[in-house]
Amino acid sequence: MQEPDEKRAVLKVCQDHGSRPENLLEVLHAVQAHDGYLSDDSLREIATCLNLTRAEVHGVASFYHDFRRVPPGKTVVKICLAEACQAVGCDALKEHAAQALSTDMGTTSSDGEVSLEPVYCLGNCALGPAVMINGVLHGRVTPEKLDSLVSRASS
Ligand code: FES
Repeated sequence: MQEPDEKRAVLKVCQDHGSRPENLLEVLHAVQAHDGYLSDDSLREIATCLNLTRAEVHGVASFYHDFRRVPPGKTVVKICLAEACQAVGCDALKEHAAQALSTDMGTTSSDGEVSLEPVYCLGNCALGPAVMINGVLHGRVTPEKLDSLVSRASS
């Protein structure tokens, strides 16, 4: 059940976006930025505020990879799997990350420490493989560099 403060925060985000249904994507991004993910309660509240059906809001939230439906790990590692990064070894980096972090792509480690997520272009194509860790972009990431960056981000 959503706490009153969380409900108020969702309501404020909707109001900040004019409570207009065409602003659904912006609202979803803002709520996720605030809460770290989109809970069922938040989606229900967003649907009410924007005068949309729950199915419409759920449909959009589940369509885009970027929306998280469960709380993320303390460290969020996003690895770009788009074409330019594929050409410079992101698949090997992805395999290394899954093994080193003990979690599969698209999941969170069982201790809740790390989430490993695929993304499809971080706008850093000339410096692939590209990785984003807790919102910070890194380029030319080797497996060794990934280990070091994750270790620093987690400490
Ligand atoms: S393809 Fe990876 S950053 Fe653009």
